Amino acid sequence: MSTPLLTLFSHHAQGGLRERLCATLRQAIAGGHLTFGQKVPSTRQLAGDLGLSRVTVEAAYAQLESEGYLQRETGRGTFVAIVMPAQTARAATVDRPRFSARGDTVIATGGCQDPPFPHAFAAGSPELRAFPHQLWRRLYASVQRSYGSQLMGYGDPLGYLPLRGAIADYLALSRGMRCRPEQVIILTSSQQALQLLAMMFLDPGDEVWLETPGYPGARNAFLAAGARCRGVPLDDEGAIVQRGAARLLYLTPSHHYPTGVAMSLARRLAWLAWAQRHGSWIIEDDYDSEFHYDERPTPAMQGLDRYGRVITLGTFSKSLFPSLRLAWMVVPPALIAPLGQARSLMDGHSALLPQAVTAAFLQQGHFASHLRLMRQLYRSRRDLLLAQLHPLSPWLTPIATPGGLQLTVTLREGENEAALSAQAERDGLALPRLSPLATEAPGQAGWILGFAALSPGEIATGCAKMASLFRDN
Ligand SMILES: Cc1ncc(COP(=O)(O)O)c(C=O)c1O
Repeated sequence: MSTPLLTLFSHHAQGGLRERLCATLRQAIAGGHLTFGQKVPSTRQLAGDLGLSRVTVEAAYAQLESEGYLQRETGRGTFVAIVMPAQTARAATVDRPRFSARGDTVIATGGCQDPPFPHAFAAGSPELRAFPHQLWRRLYASVQRSYGSQLMGYGDPLGYLPLRGAIADYLALSRGMRCRPEQVIILTSSQQALQLLAMMFLDPGDEVWLETPGYPGARNAFLAAGARCRGVPLDDEGAIVQRGAARLLYLTPSHHYPTGVAMSLARRLAWLAWAQRHGSWIIEDDYDSEFHYDERPTPAMQGLDRYGRVITLGTFSKSLFPSLRLAWMVVPPALIAPLGQARSLMDGHSALLPQAVTAAFLQQGHFASHLRLMRQLYRSRRDLLLAQLHPLSPWLTPIATPGGLQLTVTLREGENEAALSAQAERDGLALPRLSPLATEAPGQAGWILGFAALSPGEIATGCAKMASLFRDN
């Protein structure tokens, strides 16, 4: 009878002897090795089998009796006192959990897939090897020294005020935005902003418009809320204003994701008038405006908004590093308190220490210097990728992009985007597909090639692999 106990006991190596024995017996009962009504070994026998003292076994039995697993009967012995559900029933529920209708909708979106580490040509990764690690460590230590326990309690769901102020200053200067620090809400990511806005503004069946092709993270957040997503086509002035109304409109006006088109001023004004007419909200995702190489990016749409209908999102995932998990949302004054309350329900607030370090990084001018360096680096990498792709022009056409961390290419008709991407994957090369980014099928075949995180050698090797992929097919 004690053989399974002996094996289980040897697997529980952590903690004191009494705790290990308790864990062993709980597991034996949960796993069906000991069943309801069964007599367990006497303290003398178990102590002998496991090489423990009787006092330890006594103490463990007493503890398990107080938890309801065992019952001791004077003169008769100790018995299992609990009926565990049958093993097979448990296995069935664990394998196929039943979710709410909302849960099923969430699962159907497929979620978000961000590259866990930079590699050719995964999209969306910044160059982490060029990050000023030493400076960051110094700032971390100095913030911790100066603020110590002040940053260890609960924080404001809207964010750490000095960081909100530093972002408001940066946005006024670099993005032509008009906002007070209070209008800046700190979040873990743009994705969390989208999730929060979907939760607050969308009922199942509501209509949301987004550019097609467009950012799947946004589409999936809206679909998860049960919204109906309709694609808005683009021309060279950006998303074309449509007839009718939608509850929300998601745009990337400064640098369309993934083609890089910048929306014209006339279009921006027309969309703002549309939002005012229909009482709609415009989500402006300003996701990579820090990285424009050929000319200054157009100012954010928020700066033109006289009606308070624009919510602008930005993230440090690209300009600093993704695992920092800090982003922001600039909202009209009427939304500050309701969105703060919603955020408090979600996860309380973002971690305080990284917010304070990031605030210092911005206030001391390091952010501006880091961006200047990264812009130079990324521009040279984009130019190199364009040059290396030139010999592949029989198969693909790059879409000229004035900025960003990735370059979109379209594939010549007849090329099988999905098959080529799958084959490249087997060869360790990521070729993220363009066509699934269309809201309505069929999407244009192509790839979104991340270049910012790749050294010149990595770009050259990736392009050589791509070339052999075409030649072998
Ligand atoms: C258009 C767009 N918005 C947002 C993000 C992600 O930002 P975050 O990491 O803050 O969710 C990305 C990432 O690739 C993006 O392409």
